[in-house]
Amino acid sequence: MKNVTPDASPTEGGLAAIGANTYRVSTLYYGDNLDILRRKIRAETVDLCYIDPPFNSKRNYNQIYNNVGNEDRAQAQAFIDTWKWDDLAIAGHREILANAEGRFQPQLVELIKGLHKVLGEGSLLAYLTSMALRATEIFRVLKPTGSFYLHCDPTSSHYLKIILDAVFCSQGGDFVNEIAWCYELGGRVSKKAYGRRHDTLLFYSKTGDRTFNYADVLDEWDDKGKAKFRYEDEKGRYRLIGRFLKDSPIKGHRDVSPKWEQDHPELVQRYYMKAGKAQVDFWNISPINQVSRERLGFPTQKPEELLERIIRASSNEGDTVLDAYCGCGTTVAVAQRLKRKWIGMDITYQSVSLVLRRLEKAFGPIMVNAVHIDGIPRDMESAEALAHKKDDRLRKEFEKWAVLTYTNNRAVINEKKGADAGIDARAFFMTGRTDNAKIIFQVKSGGVKRGDIATLRGDMGREQAALAILITLEPPSGPMVKEAKAAGQYTHEEMGRAYDRISIVTIKDIIERGKRLEIPMSLEVLAEAQRVDESTQLQLSAFIPPAENES
Ligand SMILES: C[S@@+](CC[C@H](N)C(=O)[O-])C[C@H]1O[C@@H](n2cnc3c(N)ncnc32)[C@H](O)[C@@H]1O
Repeated sequence: MKNVTPDASPTEGGLAAIGANTYRVSTLYYGDNLDILRRKIRAETVDLCYIDPPFNSKRNYNQIYNNVGNEDRAQAQAFIDTWKWDDLAIAGHREILANAEGRFQPQLVELIKGLHKVLGEGSLLAYLTSMALRATEIFRVLKPTGSFYLHCDPTSSHYLKIILDAVFCSQGGDFVNEIAWCYELGGRVSKKAYGRRHDTLLFYSKTGDRTFNYADVLDEWDDKGKAKFRYEDEKGRYRLIGRFLKDSPIKGHRDVSPKWEQDHPELVQRYYMKAGKAQVDFWNISPINQVSRERLGFPTQKPEELLERIIRASSNEGDTVLDAYCGCGTTVAVAQRLKRKWIGMDITYQSVSLVLRRLEKAFGPIMVNAVHIDGIPRDMESAEALAHKKDDRLRKEFEKWAVLTYTNNRAVINEKKGADAGIDARAFFMTGRTDNAKIIFQVKSGGVKRGDIATLRGDMGREQAALAILITLEPPSGPMVKEAKAAGQYTHEEMGRAYDRISIVTIKDIIERGKRLEIPMSLEVLAEAQRVDESTQLQLSAFIPPAENES
């Protein structure tokens, strides 16, 4: 198999200076994972990869924001899970069939040819082609001891399994388990079928020599299991199991009494209760629901307990964990907590923003500085490139990146159509202990004019917003600045200062001058600012070794 050599290894990501020390950091990539995997991740550098791609569910998922404002459930489209036989699918399909660089296993090429005949050119083949391309790269980046978990559901799991067999098993890899993640609530319940209450995780390893920490994921004994160990001695609780002789009328093994042990000591063995029960391939773990403490409002957020089991079983402290579809960052947050290095990837800036926010909440603002973020615009050229990208999947990405970056990930993206279609985002700031006021944002990637300010003034009135901010790629004209100034000032009593009711911020301000929204946005934000305490710093430095000490 011929590999393309990427230009950087994940562990050579960026270095972040925190206080007096320089730390190696984990990396969050913004962009299409296929491109990132090929260009940026070296072969055999990842210990564990978990992915939870869109399931081909034929729907788009909305993010529900919990906010402190009046419209506290604004929605924004988080990602699209409808697949089309479009240019991207056709290009991917052709690439596999041509196999010009020898990247794909012959079995995979034949399989895709066969699926094309059977399924025809539609959404399912588009989805499977996309997965085949990525699974090939994931196999390449895994270390020989590495493991791969693909999270899916019965919609396509049977197709995905033959694709993974073709990629992994044809190259010395193993299919290890099909795990059913069962949940007691949610799922799809119907009167015409059995309710659907499990997801499927396909677990593969690159070779037979995989990391598997059996003892780290033992299950707790339930009362029924515990009750079987009914005797106790100085070594702990035990069962008495009798082995029956060949000519005995009773075959096999079975529980016996202490009396039987006394009478047949040579046939009886004491089985002591272990610290926990061996983990099996169906997992009862509660999903994220409306009242979960972990809930971030991301539509397909997975529970931390699920990721914790996978990460503990299939990696060790200091190992590198990859999630190429990281969503709101469950894998990376758990990997961080369990002292693993991690690589996260997502194609939407909203996810990148949510991951940063989640890490900040869990580990303090120091963490956000320590993460190396790759793929976001760092200069005007790349900002312009993002603004003018022609890719259906990246609709409004420039607007989202601009507003979330400027607000340090605090704004709520607006996806609504109709009267408020001109507003790209909203945010709420505290005006007192319990009151808040609204800021509206509009982002323009070209052609700004004086009339835009007048429209924004109208939007402010309709939305009853205290402040409005226009973020623009092009510099504003003199009349625009004048018009904005004419809107007057808003006095923030608590802060004891005045803000322009309409401000104009350029992308240049954001990129080159690091300009960010200064107004404190909620009590929650203020509380978090105080969380940068010593324990967070110690926790961080404990598992990200200073670069100079590394060999
Ligand atoms: C099902 S969600 C993952 C949820 C995640 N496991 C969690 O707990 O938050 C799938 C994610 O994959 C991202 N995605 C879809 N296609 C992608 C691609 N080609 N490259 C990178 N990310 C992609 C979507 O933006 C979405 O955030």
